[in-house]
This record gives sequence, structure tokens and C-alpha cells, in this order.
Amino acid sequence: MTATDDKRYFGEGLLRWYRKVRRDLPWRRSRDPYHIWVSEIMLQQTRVDTVIPYFNRFVDRFPTLRHLAEAPEDDVLKHWEGLGYYSRARNLQAAAREVAERYGGEVPRSKAEVSALKGVGPYTTGAILSIAYDQPEPAVDGNVMRVLSRYFCLEDDIARPATRIGMEGLAQSLIPEGQAADFNQALMELGAMVCTPKSPSCPECPVGERCEGRLQGKERELPVKTKAKKARPVFRWAALIEGSGAFAGKVLVRQRPETGLLAQMWELPHIEVPDEDAWIRPEEGAALLEAALAEDGVLVKAASGEVVGEAQHIFTHLVWKIKVLGASALEEQYVADRTGYRWVGPEEFENYAWPNVFRKLLTEYFLLTLRR
Ligand code: ADE
Repeated sequence: MTATDDKRYFGEGLLRWYRKVRRDLPWRRSRDPYHIWVSEIMLQQTRVDTVIPYFNRFVDRFPTLRHLAEAPEDDVLKHWEGLGYYSRARNLQAAAREVAERYGGEVPRSKAEVSALKGVGPYTTGAILSIAYDQPEPAVDGNVMRVLSRYFCLEDDIARPATRIGMEGLAQSLIPEGQAADFNQALMELGAMVCTPKSPSCPECPVGERCEGRLQGKERELPVKTKAKKARPVFRWAALIEGSGAFAGKVLVRQRPETGLLAQMWELPHIEVPDEDAWIRPEEGAALLEAALAEDGVLVKAASGEVVGEAQHIFTHLVWKIKVLGASALEEQYVADRTGYRWVGPEEFENYAWPNVFRKLLTEYFLLTLRR
């Protein structure tokens, strides 16, 4: 058996299987490069089942690249809300604007041009060029590296960039002629449905007979991957500032800065404290919060004894641990006029884009007050 035979066996076996079992996913009904691009960005770090309704809503609201390019950023964020990793949405829109201006609204066909777009790395470049344009480009993500590590029994650490580059060369050499779109999706499908991380279903695998990892009994040990560092906890106190009088039933919220983590989304006013010790006593939290908000001209009295909620928000390298203190504003109208601050009630809630953690805290609060 030559290496060429082996590659042909893999490519043809995988394609035959994929054409029988492929899932009917909304982006697979389209060859529109813009739709494929949107789906691939959404599918980074996010499961297929979660993505489907977001994808449908997004292409419904922004059916063409020009619709996305011309939309207000708030609207784009609102349609991404809950998917997390919001820089994906901002980069996608920035890149759509670039395509609208520079390429007349048509996603370019060259690797150099696609990979130069904001937020588009080697994986997404390969996915767009292969799926939309059938170009023989590899699309190698973690799932594909797992499949290839097992099939070829490769013990290189997939966390290393050099391993990924090697895998890209290998994946490209496996693409059967003229079949890049289906072949790349077949590899993804195998990784998602059969060659899964913890308990691969080898008896169902269309290429299992010649899987070197399995033949050597290593399918569960592969791929080799050095552990990423654990997310660093940061400790935060937030204020749930309840309105009264003209602002009864509302809560004071603010907009995050234009750049950085969760840029331009809305949140409960809050502060970070240096360590867990400074996060234990609510009286201390109350004093720190009052002082920090006063610097923004927001004068509040935090009810120090009362922790009214607790939640966390997990980012790639960080986890925000948040405790919420009940509070009231000293001058409600004055506070309402501070830049970036606003009183919001349940009826306006959906007009704003919220990070998951604040959506959860505020939804709980509004449900509770509606029941009161
Ligand atoms: N994961 C990443 N891209 C995908 C695609 N096109 N179909 C299914 N799962 C995917």
C-alpha cells in the first residue's frame, strides 16, 4: 500500500460517507460566500446547535454583505448577543465594510486577500475558499487536527503552531480533485459526529479500518495537546441601583468603552478589586463602589449588608466573579444625565446588547420585581 493509495482511500471513503449522512445545516443550503463566512465565524468556539438560530436570524436581518456593512454596530451586536466573543461580530462587520469598499461587495477569491480581512485566520480563509469557491485549500481547526492525529497516528503537540502548519500541508494533500467543499466539510463532520474528543465511535467510522491511531490502540490518547493555562479569576463588585419616583421599576446601567473587552455593550456599574480578600466583606465592597462611581459623577448609596446576586462570566483567559450589592441613587435625574449611564426598565431591556452575565442578573431582577 503506497501513501497515495492511503490518501485516496481516506478521501474517497470520507466523501462517500459524508454524502450519505451529512446534516442539513442552514449554511449548507447556501453557496453564498458571505453566508459561509458568517457561519464559519459563528462556529468558532460555538456549537452547531447554538449557532443555527443565530445564523438564521443574522442572515434574515443582514441578508447580504452590504446590509451588514451598512448596519449600525449596535444592531449587529444585538444579533450576536449571547454568542459571546463579541470581537468576532465587530471584526466581521469591519471586514464586510472593507469588502464593500474595496471589492465592490464581493468576497474576494484570492487567499492573500481573504486572509488579510479582519478576524479571518488561516482556518476561516480555507473554509471560505473551499466551501464557497471549491478551491483546494485546507481548513484545519482543532477538530480536524484531532481526526488527522488519530488517522495518521501523529503524536505532535497540536497546541504548537508548527504542528498546525504541518497538518495544513497534510490536509491539503488529502483533498480529492475538485471536491474541496465537500471534503473539508466531511472532515469537520467526522470530527463532530464520529471522531469525537472523549469517546470516538470507531465502529461507525468510514475510514476506521485503516486508522493508524486505532490500530495502535491510541485513539483515546490522541491528539497530544499541552494544557492551556487556567482562566485567571478577577473579582468584581457590581451595584444594582434601583430607581424610585419617576424611575421606579428601572435599574441604572452603563455602556462599556468603545474598545476592549465587551466593547460598547451594556452592564451594571461595577469595579474590580485586587484579590479575593477584597471581595469577601460587602461593607468594603460598598465603600469601594461608592467611591469609584462618584468619580463618574454617579452618587449612590450601596446597601452594604445586602448581596443580591452573584454570577460569573468566563472569557478565554479570564473569569469575572461578580457579586452584586443592592443600591440606590442619591440624585436620580442628575445620575441619568451622566455620559454612558441610563435608567433601563424591563420594557426597554431588549433594545440593548448585554453580556450574558448581566443579562442573567438583570433578567432575574426584573422577574423578581414584576412578581412583587
Ligand atoms: N464547524 C465549523 N465549520 C463547520 C461547518 N461548515 N459545518 C459544520 N460544522 C462546522
